[in-house]
Amino acid sequence: MATTWITVCDTCKREGWAERGAEVTDGVLLAELVEAAASGRDVAVKRVSCLMGCDHGCNVAVQAMGKLCYTIGRFEPTQDAARGIVDWAEKHAASATGQVPYREWPQAVKGHFVTRHPPIPAEE
Ligand code: FES
Repeated sequence: MATTWITVCDTCKREGWAERGAEVTDGVLLAELVEAAASGRDVAVKRVSCLMGCDHGCNVAVQAMGKLCYTIGRFEPTQDAARGIVDWAEKHAASATGQVPYREWPQAVKGHFVTRHPPIPAEE
């Protein structure tokens, strides 16, 4: 089955980022947490700079060839968020269509869905 990729925006900065005097972006913090949570799991992780949802970061895309693909956002860079993202993405990986029944969603991703994209039609 196609690999499910979690793509974490590593340039996302949440409100008040500059005032906090942080040395790294919230996106980098979330990416590190997601990478750690995904270790040994049935998903792949990569980083990208900007998913064009900057005003509602931290943002993450979950994609696999031939499946529904999603953008999820408004995450704080916490272990709980990272675990929820990986848990949900692993269910996406196990689903033939990419759809995951709501009753199986981890609490940490509820309310964080921003977009859903249908799979690109196969070329004739
Ligand atoms: S900086 Fe993360 S979406 Fe633009």
